[in-house]
Amino acid sequence: MATTPERARILQVGTLGEEADAYLQAHYDVLRLWEDRRGLGALADGAAGIVAIVTSVRHGCKADLIARLPDLRVICSWGVGFETIDVAAARDRGIAVSNTPDVLDDCVADLAWALLLGAARRTAVANRYVKTGQWRTIGAFPLSTRVHGKRMGILGLGRIGQAIARRGLGFGIDVRYHNRRERVGVPYGYVDSLVELARWADFLVVACEGGPATRHLVSAEVIDALGPTGIIVNIARGSVIDEAAMVHALAEGRLGGAGLDVLEFEPKVPPELLEMDQVVLSPHVGSATHETRREMVKLVFDNLAGYLSGRGLLTPVDP
Ligand code: 8YV
Repeated sequence: MATTPERARILQVGTLGEEADAYLQAHYDVLRLWEDRRGLGALADGAAGIVAIVTSVRHGCKADLIARLPDLRVICSWGVGFETIDVAAARDRGIAVSNTPDVLDDCVADLAWALLLGAARRTAVANRYVKTGQWRTIGAFPLSTRVHGKRMGILGLGRIGQAIARRGLGFGIDVRYHNRRERVGVPYGYVDSLVELARWADFLVVACEGGPATRHLVSAEVIDALGPTGIIVNIARGSVIDEAAMVHALAEGRLGGAGLDVLEFEPKVPPELLEMDQVVLSPHVGSATHETRREMVKLVFDNLAGYLSGRGLLTPVDP
């Protein structure tokens, strides 16, 4: 029988923003874990009856938390990535897990193009050039790199990868991709070796999921294959690129440039990158627009209410 979600007891791991937190508190009986100094100790005698966890890819949900909640039925996470959620531990107990795909694809794809254009056309450096008066004192700005008509390799042709590829149409870009397996029904060429894709491409865009399975897929060999005129863009996870190898290649001119929204040990930034004009950085803001963040929060709420009222999850995690 469907359970009414009203006043169901839930555990919220971290804040989702003031408005979202207030909504949850108005509709559920919420234990706010991040506000309790005892940490997991807060669950010593308050764990019974908690049927749902609300968390995010940033706050995560480890196996030891799941193990402390005997009545847990669902984990609703904010964010499309779920490498910080122990999905296997949840599955073992038949606990459902949801994330927030789809609603952020276009914003993340927009940012990938912003970073590519920033690195190739040097928009951030040009902006500084004008604002610091160098246009007037030095004169013409150095030439940059053409974007339209070039070759783009995409690592990970999921929903976000496809949104990035579609935008390439307007730029007359030739897109090919590398994936765990070839996708049927897409109009882009599949390359079964990432090194070969990088050798072919002018631009390599990282759009695959994070976690151990994709760690350092973009190796020193892949970076060398992309080469001194190549540009790498990463809107996925910093862990996918061997960051030390990338920094060396950029410093030695073996890699042309980079547009990075994510870093391996963020928010730590390798100091060398801060000095490089061929590198454009942003602080993990792929989905960070008012509109998309509203939709992500709404999807968390809809998943939670849907599951607890027996209608099911709208977006179950799909590993
Ligand atoms: C978030 C993300 O901006 O959804 C994801 O997986 O990476 C982004 O949407 C990020 O998790 C904020 O820390």
